[in-house]
This record gives sequence, structure tokens and C-alpha cells, in this order.
Amino acid sequence: MAPVEYPMSASPALHAPLPYDETCEDVAPDEVEVIAAINEELLKIARVVCNDTGHAMRAVHAKGHGLLRGRMTVEPGLTPPLAQGIFREPRSYPVLLRLSTSAGDVLPDSVSLPRGLALKVYDVPGERLEGSEGETTQDFLFVDAPAFVAPDARHFLKSLRLLAHTTDKAAGLKKVLSAALRGAEQAAEALGHESATLRSLGGHPLTHILGETYHTQVPLLHGRYMAKLSLVPGSDELRALQGTTLGLAGQPDGLRDAIRQFFRAHGGEWLLRAQLCTDLQRMPIEDASVAWSEAESPHRPVARIVCPPQDTWDDALGHDQEDRLYFSPWRGVAEHRPLGSVMRARRYAYRVSAGFRRDRNAPPPEPETARTHVPPVPRDAPPWTT
Ligand code: HEM
Repeated sequence: MAPVEYPMSASPALHAPLPYDETCEDVAPDEVEVIAAINEELLKIARVVCNDTGHAMRAVHAKGHGLLRGRMTVEPGLTPPLAQGIFREPRSYPVLLRLSTSAGDVLPDSVSLPRGLALKVYDVPGERLEGSEGETTQDFLFVDAPAFVAPDARHFLKSLRLLAHTTDKAAGLKKVLSAALRGAEQAAEALGHESATLRSLGGHPLTHILGETYHTQVPLLHGRYMAKLSLVPGSDELRALQGTTLGLAGQPDGLRDAIRQFFRAHGGEWLLRAQLCTDLQRMPIEDASVAWSEAESPHRPVARIVCPPQDTWDDALGHDQEDRLYFSPWRGVAEHRPLGSVMRARRYAYRVSAGFRRDRNAPPPEPETARTHVPPVPRDAPPWTT
């Protein structure tokens, strides 16, 4: 594919970003069946947790630790390949951030899991993705590692089956397992390789959730190009948390408390950055397990997110604040369409999980038999203004 000829600002010798065309994606012949099996496993997890707790929660990333309101401002003077989609104009949008950990059950935070950050941008203009018509938000979802645990949907199905199997195992057992896995993780790192599987099962280091760098892990359209996005601490107070750990023993909601404590005292600022695809072999679209090389294509700031000091959790609202929100990479504009096998699987998974939550937590008046298999998605919390 011929590279376009845009200079990439003042950085050293970089390749030009590649424009997207349909040959960049490759749909496996059995993808539909694999996606159906993924949805079944997700529903299994959600049902087990719902039966245990009496409340339907997200099939993964069930535990929320903080909801933050702020504004995102597009950086002025972006070069044309970066000034794409909702980053085309140097304008500002209201945003909502939800911080989470990855399990489908709500566990004490000493069971240390990958951290997630979901970003909802309000009032975005532009042609909508199919299935997201009539909405005006753009969601971007991030986790604190640069690549996904599996290369594609079919391999992810195997990990998900393992996760579904461990859902509902006694929390005490998970705490012990988590401590052991952290030891194994440190040993793996000492040997020069991190184990994403160990981390996803509770072996994640006990890092401060606000000090992490968050990644979309999988690519999406960036206007006419392809990119992965990342969010990195941008203010001094957040940067000071990078690489720090928290003592979470005896503090089941220690991550939630740490976020609250921080935002009572400070505001926070993050840089949203885009890493453009410049080589389809070394920066594959279909293999989500490959972290794209920073040397090949650095992450470049496209917007700044500023959250003022605020209370980031409301105990009085209980489940309600979590239930009213539904993030998905497929809720957004066509210019940021998700790409690749893992992203195509997510198109249905989030709808199924959110539909289950809505169905169970706010049952419609019709009898059970009259409900559709995938019920309509819940409404978001209304946008607020700051
Ligand atoms: C095939 C792969 C994946 C599947 C099937 C999947 C599935 C799901 C599901 C079902 C939910 C809960 C949706 C809801 O009830 O609202 C969820 C949440 C989430 N996922 Fe994924 N996911 C996948 C890959 C990823 C990847 C690659 C990321 C990396 C950034 C990611 C980040 C998140 C985050 C941050 C949340 C929490 C969203 C929130 O705060 O509401 N997921 N995922």
C-alpha cells in the first residue's frame, strides 16, 4: 500500500502513516461462531454473579472504582494525520471517565487485577457507527497494558472459558491465589517476560490505579488512518503516582478510596495520544497481542483531559450510578470504527452484557418469554455540564 506523503511534525525519521482500506482487515471463516461462543461465556459469568449477588453486573470490569467528570480539549496545531475524526478541530468536549478492574465479579482489591479506564466523550459531531445511530457520544476503552492477552477472538475465547470457570470461586481463595500469582509475575518479569495471563487472574502488581498508562490495545480508525490510543498522566500530581504501589491488605475498596482521596485534594490531567500505523507487518491490525513499536511510531498527543477536584464516588447511589452507564468501542462515529478480530467480537459482546444488566436490573413489564434474546441497551446517564 502506498504511504501518504504527510510530514510528521519535527520528530526524527518516521514512516508516513498508512491509509486504511478493506484489505487491512481479514475476517476468519468461523468468526460468527466464535463470537456466539464468546457471548455465551460472557453471559455465563454474568448469570453466576447475578445469582450470587442478586444484581446483574458487567460480565467483565464489574467493579467500578471511580467516576470522574471533566473536559477534553483537542490540542491546537495537530498535523493532518493526527487531526482526524473528533480531533479534527481544536475544540473541547465534556467527558466522563470510569475506572475499573477486569474481573466479572466484585472482589476485594487485594485480588490485584488489570486496571481499566473507559472514556465517554459527549456532544461529538459526525456520521455514526452502525448500531450507534441517534447517539452523540464517542467511547474509547483502555486497559493498563499496550497489547491484548490474545491475538484474536478465537484465542480470547480460550482465556474467557478459564475466567468463566474461576468466577464465583471464594474470594478468600482468590486473595491467596492473587498473592501467589504476583510472586510468579515478579519471577516472570525477572526472567524478562510479563505474563498477561497471570495478571488477568490476579497477579497484577498492586499499582496505584491513577498512576497507570492506559491503552486501547487494539486498533481503530483514526479518520482515514489506523491508530491505537493511549492515556498518560499529564499533571505533576498524577505523574508522581507513576510506578507507586498501594498497600491494599484489609482494604477491600482501597482503589476506590485512593481515587477519592486524590481528587478531594487535586484535579488531574491526562494526555490522550494516538499511535498511527505505519507498517502492517510490524503493526498488525488482526493480531491484537502485538504491542506496536514506539520506535517505529511514537504515541503523539492529540488531546488533553482535565478533571477538576471532585467526589469520585457516591455510596448513597449504590448500584444505580454503575447501572446507568454503558461504554462500548462501537458507540461512536464512523471515523473511529474499531478494527480487527477482537474489535469485531466486541461489537456484540458489550451489547449482550449491557442488555443482560438492563433486563435483570430493571425488568420490563412483559413476561419473561416475551423478552428479546438481546434486549435493547440501557440509556446512559444524562450528560452533565461543567
Ligand atoms: C474480544 C475481546 C473483548 C470482549 C469480548 C470484551 C467484553 C467486555 C464486556 C462484555 C464488557 C462489559 C460491558 C457492559 O456490561 O457494559 C467489557 C468491559 C470493558 N472492557 Fe472489554 N472486552 C474485550 C476486549 C477488551 C479490550 C481489548 C479492552 C482494552 C482496552 C477492553 C476494555 C474494557 C473496559 C475498560 C471495560 C469496562 C467498561 C466500563 O467501564 O463500563 N476490553 N468488555
